[in-house]
Amino acid sequence: MTDGLPDKRQVAASFSRAAASYDSVAALQRAVGSALLDRLPEGFAPERWLDLGSGTGHFSRALAERFPAAEGIALDIAEGMLRHARPLGGARRFVAGDAERLPLREASLDLIFSSLAVQWCADFAAVLGEARRVLRPGGAFAFSSLCVGTLQELRDSWQAVDGFVHVNRFRRFEDYRQLAEDSGLRLLGLARRPETLHFPDLRSLTHELKALGAHNLNPGRPGGLTGRARILALIDAYERFRQPEGLPATYQVVYGVLQK
Ligand SMILES: C[S@@+](CC[C@H](N)C(=O)[O-])C[C@H]1O[C@@H](n2cnc3c(N)ncnc32)[C@H](O)[C@@H]1O
Repeated sequence: MTDGLPDKRQVAASFSRAAASYDSVAALQRAVGSALLDRLPEGFAPERWLDLGSGTGHFSRALAERFPAAEGIALDIAEGMLRHARPLGGARRFVAGDAERLPLREASLDLIFSSLAVQWCADFAAVLGEARRVLRPGGAFAFSSLCVGTLQELRDSWQAVDGFVHVNRFRRFEDYRQLAEDSGLRLLGLARRPETLHFPDLRSLTHELKALGAHNLNPGRPGGLTGRARILALIDAYERFRQPEGLPATYQVVYGVLQK
């Protein structure tokens, strides 16, 4: 199901471009990362942590505050995000790298924290394998991600207009469970929590996705300009989902905690 994920260079370029706008529209991302922090095992005191897919570094700074004696690494595939985050501190080192091939030594970390990044990795088994390799015994991998059902309203609306995949593909929740169970790490917890945002109109939603760097980058997306007639058809299709609070955009958030 993840075979339609965009090329990593495109992902990196898209997030690099979004570095300056990301924080202004990241309310859901903030809430999800905070909920993930709350899921860390009680009394956990890592000496070395990694913020994997650290973005603008908000949670690197939160981790530094929570574990003041520890040494942190912020790692992201997007150089633009690292450039934005570096002057703001939090981590001791800011490293460009890929979650599927970590440029880190084995058994060198006590905690890997990763909020809303691994949905961009086609090979989650590789991410888990890397977590297992770089964690010390007793170390934890805490992640949040997105699964099937995310942005379903947008996907269904586009489907009604032209049948193309205009929304990034997401793994099934069951696949997260299976891969976690097969990872060789101990699964301490796995949960799915739907979150629904509301927008006054479709333009606000697509603007937000672009500002986050998370708009569709699928290879199957149609190229070229989006014609006015198609946009009007899309607006019409999405209006069918309207609720009293506005146009809903559902995110199916996955939280997982594993231990080596
Ligand atoms: C939605 S942002 C989340 C940023 C931050 N964790 C937060 O919660 O605010 C996703 C981040 O993951 C990064 N990312 C995507 N694919 C990655 C990969 N394969 N390896 C490392 N980072 C990746 C992106 O560049 C982006 O900065």
